Amino acid sequence: MNLSLFDVPRETVALAEGAVVLRGFATGHDAALCEGVQGVLARSPWRHMITPGGFRMSVAMTNCGSLGWVSDERGYRYAAADPMTGEAWPAMPELFATLATEAAREAGYPYFAPDACLINRYEPGAKLTLHQDRNERDMDAPIVSFSLGLPAVFLFGGNKRSQPIRRIALVNGDVAVWGGESRLRYHGVMPLREGNHPLTGACRINLTFRKAG
Ligand code: SIN
Ligand code: FE2
Repeated sequence: MNLSLFDVPRETVALAEGAVVLRGFATGHDAALCEGVQGVLARSPWRHMITPGGFRMSVAMTNCGSLGWVSDERGYRYAAADPMTGEAWPAMPELFATLATEAAREAGYPYFAPDACLINRYEPGAKLTLHQDRNERDMDAPIVSFSLGLPAVFLFGGNKRSQPIRRIALVNGDVAVWGGESRLRYHGVMPLREGNHPLTGACRINLTFRKAG
């Protein structure tokens, strides 16, 4: 494996009960994952979804897998078709599913089989405000979240919005996994700082795998 300035060696960092960061887990697959994203984009391009409150999200999104996360004036939900194209979301590349299952196993969740992959693109200034992931049917399955490209500051709180929030740097190749006791923890991403990454250029890409249906 070639380590560049942006990469870190493998290490498991415990965040909370049921929650870890697998540092460098995906480093050796970063280029292949980005290629997979390009394939998805050819059929379901980036778009800025609208929140139920009527705001345009700063993070651009798309999905792959049998279900995709969508937001509009009617709320947040999972849908089998891309509302922009009317077609099914692109299939989840095999590498995506394999790595997500493997990361979950390393984090202590041996049977994770994702059916949804939300792909987030953060450009400088883009952020994700503190939220819980609660549109999924099966809360026994963890959330498995891959970071590619520019580093970000991940916010990881408690099960109540008012609880203290940890700030964790996530860099290219890191994978955060939270489930069990931590499944409904509040989390978010601080506004992305300017930068240039050899793989993604001036952005961060995040792949969030879920068992949604
Ligand atoms: C999310 O909460 O959906 C994404 C988190 C991230 O970008 O790291
Ligand atoms: Fe989330």
